[in-house]
Amino acid sequence: MEAVEARFSDVLTVKSGVTRLTLTDFRNYAFLRLNAELAPIILTGDNGTGKTNILEAISFLTPGRGLRSAKLSDIKRMTPALVPDEYMPEKIGPVNWAVSALVQRDGEEVEIGTAVERSFRETEEDEGRSFDRRIVKINGNKIASQSELGKYISAVWLTPQMDRLFRGGSQPRRSFLDRLVYAFDLEHAKRTANFEHLYRQWYQLLKEGCRDNSWLASLEENMAALGVAIAAARREQIAKLNRFIETEPDDVFPNVVLQLDGVIEKMLDSSPAVEAEDFYAQYLCKQRRNVMFNDTIDGVNKTDFKVFYKKKRMPAELCSTGEQKSLLISIILAQTKCQTLHQGFAPVLLLDEVVAHLDDIKREALLKKISELQVQAWITSTDPTLFDSLRGTAQFISLPL
Ligand SMILES: Nc1ncnc2c1ncn2[C@@H]1O[C@H](COP(=O)(O)OP(=O)(O)O)[C@@H](O)[C@H]1O
Ligand SMILES: [Mg+2]
Repeated sequence: MEAVEARFSDVLTVKSGVTRLTLTDFRNYAFLRLNAELAPIILTGDNGTGKTNILEAISFLTPGRGLRSAKLSDIKRMTPALVPDEYMPEKIGPVNWAVSALVQRDGEEVEIGTAVERSFRETEEDEGRSFDRRIVKINGNKIASQSELGKYISAVWLTPQMDRLFRGGSQPRRSFLDRLVYAFDLEHAKRTANFEHLYRQWYQLLKEGCRDNSWLASLEENMAALGVAIAAARREQIAKLNRFIETEPDDVFPNVVLQLDGVIEKMLDSSPAVEAEDFYAQYLCKQRRNVMFNDTIDGVNKTDFKVFYKKKRMPAELCSTGEQKSLLISIILAQTKCQTLHQGFAPVLLLDEVVAHLDDIKREALLKKISELQVQAWITSTDPTLFDSLRGTAQFISLPL
């Protein structure tokens, strides 16, 4: 515990985060430029003033589809479609929307930009079809893979939608878990995207009645290899967080125990990776018939992420709404600290309306923990008075600017 704290205070001298943020045609912003301090940033304003949109823009500086899992085409600022004079779609240029930022890490600054461009693809019917493509630039140079971004910035977020994380279907929990892994293993984002792509292709082929066994088998082999790598990375991350949480105080944000519930992850308890790969490929092959009957095919695409309230030995889904929120905060804080130690710089925290349902004690405890972590935390709220204890240390931004 002391060793962790000592290492942590060394890392804390490394300041990281976004120092300038520029949005162009992003959601409700035609243009916005913000200078930000490497400190807690309290974004306040009435409902609909664009607080969450700013957090979403920052989340686009990391791989993936941002904190709303939005469709790229929904983000482009819409001009009021009900006013014909102002609705001029032909004026939409090749760049659809853009977010750019100066990102600081240990005194070094890089410029990160991400934008969505409209491209045209020739189709067989000889009619060009337009599609949106996200491009990413670091210091002005286009990069091939979004995972490069992880070297300069990472983000951990908590949104009101996540209040239902433990109760609904497993998909959002799986994405949450995979995001926890990305920060430690930059390849994980690529692997999960590739797996999904292959799975869709395989499923579609089978639905269409494809009988090309060698094609199907090669897809299954690739899926099995990726799947086992995904399962192994998830296992490692869970083990790391569980070990770390044991050294953390069990206070208003209670300690949790994390578990994986997935066939491939379970297999790795007792079998080496090569055996798990063979098993997975054979399993997929046997499942070909079931795709025709619309059966769900088990595997890393079905893995669930289980959280327990440690002291109460209670699964999170059976805890009260308030307890569930505290458990989530507990995971987020542990991940932030663990990630800071691992990557040598802190992630940016994006906390959307987090304090709204916390009582005074919990709110103050959270703000204290954030201050101790010395991370750049973007916190939204409709009520600035809830943050009086941060006057003098946090940056307060009130919207609209
Ligand atoms: N593509 C878009 N174009 C223009 N406005 C948008 C777009 N998407 C969302 N908005 C608007 O952005 C506004 C601010 O949203 P949000 O950031 O969620 O507000 P809040 O401050 O309550 O978090 C909303 O009124 C919403 O209608
Ligand atoms: Mg909001």
